[in-house]
Amino acid sequence: MKSKLLVVDDEKNIREGLADSLKMDGFEVVTAAGGDEAWNRFQKGDIDLVITDLRMPDISGEELLKLIEAETPGVPVIILTGHGTVETAVEAMRAGAWDFLTKPVNLDHLAQIVRRALSNRELFLKHRRLEEELEQQKQFRTMIGSSAPMRRVFDTISRAAPTKASILITGESGVGKELVADAIHELSPRKGKPFIKVHCAALSENLLESELFGHEKGAFTGAVARKRGRFELANEGTLFLDEIGEIEQNIQIKLLRVLQEKAFERVGGEETIETDVRLVAATNKDLKEEIAKGVFREDLYFRLNVVNIHVPPLRERKEDLPLLFAAFLKEFCKDNEKSIEGIEPKARSRLFSYDWPGNVRELRNCIESAVVMARGNYITEDDLPPNITLKNEEPSIRIPLGVTMDESERIIIRSTLKAYKDNKSKAAEVLGIGRKTLHRKLIEWGDVDF
Ligand SMILES: Nc1ncnc2c1ncn2[C@@H]1O[C@H](COP(=O)(O)OP(=O)(O)OP(=O)(O)O)[C@@H](O)[C@H]1O
Ligand SMILES: [Mg+2]
Repeated sequence: MKSKLLVVDDEKNIREGLADSLKMDGFEVVTAAGGDEAWNRFQKGDIDLVITDLRMPDISGEELLKLIEAETPGVPVIILTGHGTVETAVEAMRAGAWDFLTKPVNLDHLAQIVRRALSNRELFLKHRRLEEELEQQKQFRTMIGSSAPMRRVFDTISRAAPTKASILITGESGVGKELVADAIHELSPRKGKPFIKVHCAALSENLLESELFGHEKGAFTGAVARKRGRFELANEGTLFLDEIGEIEQNIQIKLLRVLQEKAFERVGGEETIETDVRLVAATNKDLKEEIAKGVFREDLYFRLNVVNIHVPPLRERKEDLPLLFAAFLKEFCKDNEKSIEGIEPKARSRLFSYDWPGNVRELRNCIESAVVMARGNYITEDDLPPNITLKNEEPSIRIPLGVTMDESERIIIRSTLKAYKDNKSKAAEVLGIGRKTLHRKLIEWGDVDF
């Protein structure tokens, strides 16, 4: 669609001369003979750019500029001035004019300025659309996303948060599970009460037990005083158990009991303590698989998973990239006191073709480093971390973080077999193991019959 320009000048010759020239340059042009008429025309709402004389009998160019700024910020206004009024034109620039030209106007120069102003306006509008979208999402504060899968996540959060139901958040590392937990607490009636987080994988079994349930003085060596556990501290609030897939059987049993009876004892204690805690747990493991392997209790799983919120990996919702990019760019520009306006198309397409195995966390780190590296106003391909610009044409295997050596062996062998269309001799050769060894492993895993 052609851009529509409004040319305002009280001198008919100039007005029409400019209009004709701009029309030849491919713009649609409407004219007004004075500020008043221009303002009336502008209010119809379809003008993309205004070129106006400064001195006019009724509303001056400067006043017109102010009116436009107030009504529709971002519509570029170019000021034309006769000799002797350059100072006023400078004033107008300060008031927000895009540029000014002295008469007689160099028509080629004018067309150039108009084009630049219009492309800037497009950026402005795009930016504002993104800002508006970000604003709409304030409900989820730091959680960004407008893709269908993320909308479903937001919807489930909104519906489940006000209840007391236990929630299990699942998804790969870096997808934003912790942010989901934050949002659940914030949108629940427990907001304002304690929100306690426990990172289950970070503690040994004994430490975790005393961390969760507390201990009495002398319960074990080093227990020099009574300590209240997280279940007590989270009373009336929310307890977030991160990496729940990592906890040992003994603690699984205790957790199950708290969930069922809403009561527990401190380590080494007799007194039964009642607690009113809303439990939210997260894991990047497939708990059903853990149950099948016999390392996670099924009864506990059902108690935890009253509501499941699955956060999909970033590669399955690349529509979220532009919004996430805009948010991280803003954040890191502020941190680094830089003003980067955007990203070059080539670099942008790199972001889209990359697989993001580390999900949103990886994207966030990538944008931070790109902002730090960037020399110009736009992020270029050179500013991106090398692994993102690497052409990934070699077939590869994805092994998620957190799997055991045994599991990774299984992934490698099964994927290699698949890649060689179940040709066991070929796969064994590629893997550098004997065909018999391969066969034995497959039997062990139940992949083949004896
Ligand atoms: N939708 C999102 N909007 C904005 N930031 C996000 C979003 N999702 C994740 N992040 C950011 O990405 C990083 C990782 O998120 P988070 O820690 O919640 O992931 P996680 O799923 O808990 O990962 P892990 O399994 O490794 O613990 C954080 O810095 C977080 O702020
Ligand atoms: Mg986490």
